[in-house]
Amino acid sequence: MCGIVGYLGPQDPKKVIIEGLKKLEYRGYDSAGIAVLHDGKTKRIRAEGKLKQLEDKVLNENFNGNLGIGHTRWATHGPAVEKNAHPHQVGEISIVHNGIIENYLEIKKELIERGAHISSDTDSELVAHLINEEIQVTKDLLLAVQKTLSKLIGAFSVVVLWEKSPNELVAFKDGPPLIVGINEKSSEYFVVSDVQAALNYTKNFVYLEDREIVHIKKEGIKYYSALGAPLKKQVITLDWTSSQVEKMGFKHYMLKEIYEQPHAVASALQPHINMQTLEVNLNNVGFENPVEEVLKKIERVMFVACGTSFYAANVAKYLIEQLARIPVDIDIASEFRYRKPMIPANTLLVTVSQSGETADTLAAIRMAKEKGALTLSITNVMRSSIDREAHGHLYMNSGVEVGVASTKAFTSTLALVNLLAVQIAKARGVLNKDAEQTCVKNLLAVPSQLEMVLAFDKYFSEAAKKLKEFKGFLYLGRGVSYPIALEGALKLKELAYMHAEGYAAGEMKHGPLALIDSKMAIVVVAPTDELIDKTISNLQEAKARGGKIISIGSGENLALKSMSEYYLSIPEANWMTNPIISVVPLQLMAYHMADSLGFDVDQPRNLAKSVTVE
Ligand code: AGP
Repeated sequence: MCGIVGYLGPQDPKKVIIEGLKKLEYRGYDSAGIAVLHDGKTKRIRAEGKLKQLEDKVLNENFNGNLGIGHTRWATHGPAVEKNAHPHQVGEISIVHNGIIENYLEIKKELIERGAHISSDTDSELVAHLINEEIQVTKDLLLAVQKTLSKLIGAFSVVVLWEKSPNELVAFKDGPPLIVGINEKSSEYFVVSDVQAALNYTKNFVYLEDREIVHIKKEGIKYYSALGAPLKKQVITLDWTSSQVEKMGFKHYMLKEIYEQPHAVASALQPHINMQTLEVNLNNVGFENPVEEVLKKIERVMFVACGTSFYAANVAKYLIEQLARIPVDIDIASEFRYRKPMIPANTLLVTVSQSGETADTLAAIRMAKEKGALTLSITNVMRSSIDREAHGHLYMNSGVEVGVASTKAFTSTLALVNLLAVQIAKARGVLNKDAEQTCVKNLLAVPSQLEMVLAFDKYFSEAAKKLKEFKGFLYLGRGVSYPIALEGALKLKELAYMHAEGYAAGEMKHGPLALIDSKMAIVVVAPTDELIDKTISNLQEAKARGGKIISIGSGENLALKSMSEYYLSIPEANWMTNPIISVVPLQLMAYHMADSLGFDVDQPRNLAKSVTVE
């Protein structure tokens, strides 16, 4: 996944583009570049490494044009070196690209046969070659782009400038997001991968859909289908302020987002709870018919997601099966889309995706719709690609999540799948009003319980220091705490680059017990629920073999505390809401561990915030 910024307007394009790329650096940060017009020519500057390297390179560079494009890269084709950084310039054409050109090898072969000089290892450069060839004939940028698109196979978004047309930009979207920012008053136009890159200059945006083109000229803006049919697009005014995406005094975005969780969970719940009757109401998800009528017919629920979102789906399985008594399947999206899944009639397929752009999850929901499933998207980005595909929509409402390691989106999702479990159970007539009100009260208590956990952050920071002594980490949990163990292990992997494994506590004697020694830390997620005694006996087996235990327990669980090197207490809660609370110490321990190791918490190595390629 990469970050794109295109700009046409009276401001200094260098400033607008670099500032915009800074907001997008979470999307990819192994190289970056800009191409801006100067004296009617393209001035291109690129740099390997983080955006800071580019910023230093362009510091004393001046550009007198009003048009430019910029890009921050997450390498897919070709190593992260300067020659592979975008923008790619061929002759009079410069482009920035996000996605994958699947037929790039045959295009490359044909170009070389036509005498083209290929200077990089990327598929993106080939697009610049093709457009540059076309523009020699068409002398029209829009036409040159349209003719080139017909030769490309894959999912890609591109922004193109032609140095002979200093007040024109053409962009095409298919797959990775491209959003047009418009400020009519100042005649400024932005084409960005994420609205954050333009929020300082406008709140008016047009979301391009797949296979759509935007043609920007000083005189105005037009939209077309890939085949050239004119389109009418709706301008959306966002009420986000750019400060929402700033760190607001926190050392890292991730820490800010961990501390935003009480508010994020409350924001996720608020649109769907009647505070007078303490009833759940998901009628606003947008199904064609009333939600109870729709869900009553459902005979199976399937969840499809990736990474942390997949672990949220794991929690959903326990909640929905136990409360609504309906079978729930869970799949990793990259597996689901290729295993030729059976999707029986009356299936509700739910996708979970913070970004709403994860390629595998997007492919999954499209496949499910083709097979006739009713689809529901749980996402944090309204009108994202996945959101737009779904029949029904649930929003995490967490506000922008910048840290690559997902936190508030995860806990907001857990709140939403609690609501979904209640709504399905009601529709199936297996949850009475008292039980519903109890579930709602338990959920309404979560934000203050999260506040209490956050108040103990210094204990988690101390525990993190203790964890540094260990070489391996086993995260254990039973029942609905098992997915939290998986998520805790992922957080340590992606932030502190340490080997950690999530495991069902009951599985220890089937192998992992052999791993236990004084260098293996056992982090156990053991809030008080009906399985706590079984978890404790599992721990005794590990303790007896010299295992060092760090445990998360409800209140003062003396049995658990007595066998732990470190005991981290969280507030007593209901088994359905325990996961929302028990994950926070794991988030904070991973955060403090990574921070104390001097790693880049917000942009862990090799990762990107949303993986919009397979
Ligand atoms: C989680 O911390 C990771 N950033 C990653 O596993 C992420 O959850 C996964 O890539 C799915 O992203 P999505 O929710 O945007 O689809």
